Amino acid sequence: MKQLFVFLALAFFMVSCGGDSTEQDSSKSKKKPKSMIKEEPKDDGKGVGEIKNVELNNPLVAAMVDKGKGIYEMKCAACHKLTDQRVVGPGWKGLTEKRKPEWIMNMTLNVDVMLAEDETARDLLKQCLVRMPNQNLSTEDARDVLEFMYANDGETVGEQ
Ligand code: HEC
Repeated sequence: MKQLFVFLALAFFMVSCGGDSTEQDSSKSKKKPKSMIKEEPKDDGKGVGEIKNVELNNPLVAAMVDKGKGIYEMKCAACHKLTDQRVVGPGWKGLTEKRKPEWIMNMTLNVDVMLAEDETARDLLKQCLVRMPNQNLSTEDARDVLEFMYANDGETVGEQ
């Protein structure tokens, strides 16, 4: 988590430096209005955070599904049902069809940044009106919960 913040801080620093220097350069020749140099934000549907690429298992790994279920019951079930019914947060039925696995894991591991920066997450917050608290899962735990989400959506689970 700390590393991520350092990285983000550095990224902002570099962006702002870059921005300044192009501004100075262009002011020497001809001035460009800021709106013209603004970059289009691109949304690849993977969310914001450390998780860039998730390899899925087919069939699902039973041991991971089991562990994920345990974590769900302990840390997520208070707010998330396994049906499509919303309690505090949205129900999980169909989640893996709606969202990319990377997005789901970033939402689990990096919820504060997601709620601030990711368009989809912000929309959910508007609907739910409660901020999902960070559940402090390890990357491995979040991956197991993801496996469990696929099982909940009816994917085939392999033999134990
Ligand atoms: C205190 C309630 C609460 C707990 C506990 C909680 N969440 Fe959430 N979750 C929310 C809310 C509320 C949202 C909707 C976004 C928002 O308003 O912050 C959400 C959204 C999500 C989403 C996006 C759902 C969608 O439809 O796209 C995922 C994925 C998610 N949570 C995963 C988890 C996982 C995994 C856990 C357990 C480790 C967990 N949540 C525990 C409240 C909670």
